[in-house]
Order: sequence, then C-alpha cells, then structure tokens
Amino acid sequence: MNNQQLLDLIDKMTLEDKIAQLLQLAAPFYEGAEEEGQITGPMEAMGITESMITHSGSILGYAGAAGAIEVQNAHLRKNPHGIPLLFMADIVHGFKTIFPVPLAIGCSWDTDLAQKSAEVAAREAAVSGIHVTFAPMVDLVRDPRWGRVMESTGEDPYLNSLFAKAFVRGFQGEDLTAEVERVAACVKHFAAYGASEAGRDYNTVDLSERQLREYYLPAYKAALDEGCEMVMTSFNTIDGIPASGNQKLMRKLLREEWGFDGVLISDWGAVKELIPHGVAEDEREAAYRAITAGIDIEMMTACYVHELPELVRSGQVDEALVNESVLRILQLKNKLGLFDNPHRGANPEREAEVVYSREHRDAAYELAVRSTVLLKNDNILPLQKESSVALIGPFAQSGDILGPWSWSGSTENAVKLDAALRERLGREKLTVATGCGIEEGTQEQLDQALEIAKQADVIVLALGEASEMSGEAGCRTDIRLPQIQLNLIEQIAALGKPTTVVLFNGRPLDLHGVYDKVGAVVEAWYPGSEGGAAVADILIGAVNPSARLTMSFPYSVGQVPVYYNHFNTGRPQGAEDAQVRYVSQYLDAPNTPLLPFGYGLSYTTFQYESLTVSSEQMTSDSTLTVSVDVTNTGTVSGIETVQLYVRDISGEVVRPVRELKGFVKLELAPGESGKAVFTLNEEQLRYHHSDLSFKSDPGRFDIFVGGNSRDTLQHSFILS
Ligand code: GLC
Repeated sequence: MNNQQLLDLIDKMTLEDKIAQLLQLAAPFYEGAEEEGQITGPMEAMGITESMITHSGSILGYAGAAGAIEVQNAHLRKNPHGIPLLFMADIVHGFKTIFPVPLAIGCSWDTDLAQKSAEVAAREAAVSGIHVTFAPMVDLVRDPRWGRVMESTGEDPYLNSLFAKAFVRGFQGEDLTAEVERVAACVKHFAAYGASEAGRDYNTVDLSERQLREYYLPAYKAALDEGCEMVMTSFNTIDGIPASGNQKLMRKLLREEWGFDGVLISDWGAVKELIPHGVAEDEREAAYRAITAGIDIEMMTACYVHELPELVRSGQVDEALVNESVLRILQLKNKLGLFDNPHRGANPEREAEVVYSREHRDAAYELAVRSTVLLKNDNILPLQKESSVALIGPFAQSGDILGPWSWSGSTENAVKLDAALRERLGREKLTVATGCGIEEGTQEQLDQALEIAKQADVIVLALGEASEMSGEAGCRTDIRLPQIQLNLIEQIAALGKPTTVVLFNGRPLDLHGVYDKVGAVVEAWYPGSEGGAAVADILIGAVNPSARLTMSFPYSVGQVPVYYNHFNTGRPQGAEDAQVRYVSQYLDAPNTPLLPFGYGLSYTTFQYESLTVSSEQMTSDSTLTVSVDVTNTGTVSGIETVQLYVRDISGEVVRPVRELKGFVKLELAPGESGKAVFTLNEEQLRYHHSDLSFKSDPGRFDIFVGGNSRDTLQHSFILS
C-alpha cells in the first residue's frame, strides 16, 4: 500500500477502532493462542472487550510458525478492516539457538560476531512467525546490583554504540520488506534505565541532561542512525517525569531533535504505571500524558482504549495525535509487507530446517568462546591432557546457562560442561559431583565432592548465579557468590590442589572468597546453547581466550558504581599520597575495581613497545596516527585487543580520566610482532559542554594504549 491508501484506511476506521490499534496484548487474549495462559483473568481484570481485541494492533510473546499463521488468520477473520497483527517478542540474544548474554557478547569486542548472532536470531524468529524483536537493549550500565546488566554490552558509550549498530544490522538486514527472514528491531529502554538508583528495577533515574547526553543517549542514537524501526520507553523517571509520559524526552528530543518518526511502544504496563509514579491521578490522566508524549503503543494496560475516546470527543486530546500513532503502526505493518502477506516469514518447513540448526549452534559456539573471559591464571590453565579432573559445583551438569532472556530456548538441550569435558578428556579422566546447590547444600553433597577432589589431580569448580538471580527483577545487594558456594571453594582450596573456578552468571560479581582462593578464574557469563562446549575448549586450551571485560568488576559492592571513565576529583588518590588522609578514598577498600574495563587474560603474553604519534599537534582539520608495536612473547597464538584511550586534561567541564576511542585486534603467533594503528581526529574529542553544545576544546590530551584501561603506554598531543 502507499501512504494515501493507508490514510484512506484510517479514514474508514471509527475512533474506537483506531485507538484499539494502539493496544498490544499478550498471547492468551487471542484465538488460537489460548494455551499460552488464562484468558478470563487478565481480560476481566484489564477491562478488555472482544471488540478491543478484534481491533488491537499487536500481539506480544507468541511464536511458532503454524500457530502464528492460525492466530493471524483467526484475527483477520474478525477484523473488518483486514488489518493484520504485528507479532512482537523478546529475542534478545537468540530465539531457540541461544547466544551468550549481551554482556558476554560485549566482551568479545567483535561486532561482526554480534551482528551474526542477531541475524541468526532474526532468521529463527521470523520463520517462527515473529515480526519485531524487543532488542537491542543498549542501556549503559555501571551498577552490577542491577539484574539487567546482563542485557547490556557494558559501561562504555562508544563500544555500546558500535554493538547497537551491529545488532540492528543483524536483526533488520538491508531491506525489511524484501527480506522476510529478518525482524524489525526495537531499541530499549529509552532512556537511561541502566542508571536506576541503587541498582533496583523500575527505580528513579535522576541525571543532569549533560550526563544523559554524554553517556546514556549515544547508543540509542546509534541504533536509530542504523535504521532501528522502533523504540521502547523505560520504566524510570527522567528528571522527575516517567519516560512514558515525558514529552521533553519523547516529543522534543526523540522525535523533533533526532527526527525519529517510527513506532514508540511503552514497556509492559508503563503507561498505567504513571499512576503509582504519581504523575497521573487515574487512567484518564495516564492516557492523556502518554499520548501527548507520543507513545504509540500501550503494552499490556488499557488506559488508551478505556479513556482516549472520551478525551478525544471532549476535545482534550486532538484526534490528530491518535491518527499519527495509527499511521506509524500501519506504516510499519506495510513496510513489513503484512498487508500483502500477513504471515510474512512464518513457514513451518523453514522453521524445521533452520531453527536450532547445526550452523546456528556453531555460530553460538564461536561467540561463546570469544565472550569467555580469563580473569586469573596462575599457570593452572589450560588443563593438561594427562591430568585427572574433578568437576564440582551446581553448574557442573546444569543447563541453566542460557540466561534470563531465553524464554524460547531449551536448557535441557544446552551443551553442559560435564558432557563437553567428558567428550574431550575421556570418561576415565573426569569425575563429577555437585558439591552444593546454588544457594543450599548438604553435608553429603560436600563429602562426595571432597572425595572425588582428593582422588583427582586438578579441580574445576563450576559455580555461579541461577538465571533468576539475574535479569529483570533479579537485583541483588550482595553480589558475591552465595555463601554455600563460597564454603565449597574454601573446603576444596584447603586440599591445596590446582583449582579453577568457572563462573556462570549475569553480572560482575564481588569475587571475595573466590579470586584470592584459587589459581584460575574463568568468567563464562551465561554462554548459551553451546556454553558447555565453549568453556570446555577454553579449559583444555583448544581455544586461547581473547575476551575483554566491558564492565568493571568491583573490589566490593561498597564501591558501586565503579567504572573506568570516571572523573578525577579535586583530591584524587595518588600512589604517592598513599599515607595521605584527606584525599578521595575509602578507609577499608581501594578506589580501583578488582578488574578494570578492558581487562582479560590469554594463554600467551603480549608486550607493547614504541607507542608513537604522527604529530604532537592536532588541528580541527588534521588527523593523528597513533601506532604501537605488540609482540606475542608467549608460546601459543593469541588474539590481543589493543585499546586506545584519551584523556582531555582540561575541559569546560570535568572530563573522564580515560575514554575509549578505538580498538584493534591483532592475531599473533608465538614470537610474532604486529603494529596496531589508530587514527584520531578532532571530532572524536568533542563532548557536551555546560550549555549542552557539542564541541572540542583546544589543549593537551593524553593518549593511553594497552590491553586494558589500566595497564597502558602513554603519550600526549595538543589540540590547537
Ligand atoms: C519487560 C521488559 C522489556 C520487555 C517487555 C516485554 O517488562 O522490561 O525489556 O521487552 O517487558 O516482554
């Protein structure tokens, strides 16, 4: 259809029909999807009528090719205008083939692999009947108490922006109309949900506009610049107004300043939550604030369908606002080709062929090995072939390695660590015991574990957080491993044998009782469907780990938020001031994290030399070339992610002590040297000033190059 035909269609719709098009309901409300849950409960509680369902615009959380075709056909039999449903769902890091969680993907520093993961997820979802995914989540995160840090790619705006673009490219491809095995992306949660106070879901965010624009907004903008079709609002306030009713954020910034004219959907229930937030007396005021803020789709509450007809008829809301929302939704449906083919990519034969295919699982494996971070290794790893291994812990045989956003994945089909190690080491070389549960254990479990540990040459402890201890509503104030697991480490470590801890979890943990107790620590995150195989290949050295942290591991939760691109303060704690009291420091902990942004080890070592800068002067139209020589000084090949940081020594506002401006990957054989070359220009030095102007300042800049944000070579230049 062309735009005029869409406008003609809108003209034929009643006001109630148009308003219902703005309603998104979960699957159980729809004929053919009843098995997804109770129809009566939510419908009666929400005051949803059959007519509202008949005219609703989109369905949430339904997948399966044959079922989706049936649900769509049933809907079209009832909808008098022939308007098909949009099928939307959370395909965040995989559909049936589950990839590592995005925080792990970020640690790969590989946007090509990230794009590939989104492409695979899109293909599996599209052939299963899904049109739109609620991803990528690009919230910048600095607080590991927040359960949803696992959904983000970390604490750096530049790196998050690169990944945001890669995910959108993978989900949407080049032409959503022609490529039916792609899905429309929906960047979330707009905006700054990662800054929720106290690391608690749905909580207050209160930032200066400058901080918002400098750190939290770039990745959303990057996703939209890449053509992301939709935006989802966040649950939090921004400057005292919840995002879903925030005209300044949505109409002025998102739509007018950024020119976004796509579909804006609320998060689940966020429109009605304007009432408990305290900015709406009732559903009528909630509907008023949301539609005037420009929210097109109300997810899973009914303020619009209950209150907008009267608000429009009484003249309090201009019907044009409703019409523009309906048009945006119909334009998306049209772009997805749904008026010509309401089933789009839904195809049972293709579903059977591609979903969870070997090719897809191989892609998940590749990303899992590239996302697993070696955090410590006192010559414990890789495991030696002749060693007998005792594998102990609640994750030794667990399929709960898919993470909390894997609703359509299969934990029983996930490759578990014990099976993978047994396949690689041989049955006779591996013994397995649980040792304890995630949060509870028995003396018998512990005794069995100690028994096999005493018999083995080396020990691998597979520990971590159950997936419900992470993700949405998975916030923790104590981010250590559960005590029962710390006890297990204590008991095993007392045997004095080479011991490795592998962590399966969704956040940077406080590693007290772990890092100091064993000789090697491997951060596997939730590595996905092929996680056991990936971790096993890292442990035996079949793959040399190359991942680097994109979120700092705090020394303790008391430091939080702790992140690399912090400000210096007027009394920085310097090494030379170690005995000085009156500087910015703690009495009982260091200021620095246990493990910094960019950190990760390899089975080889790399030496950095000859950091050079093409000139020590930069002008607004010149480009500096920065280069460094890197040598593999170890005995195995390895991939080094060479990182470039700058520091603006004096700005119009305070500037971070480090800012990532680029990275280069070098794959080097033992003894081989390579040169990492970067370019720097004035545009990369711009930042938001106190008046929100975005520009650079002349003056001195320090350059830091190294394998993480802490251990670097240094140089400098002057921007004139
Ligand atoms: C949830 C999440 C959001 C998700 C939505 C639909 O509350 O906040 O990320 O996309 O509901 O499931």
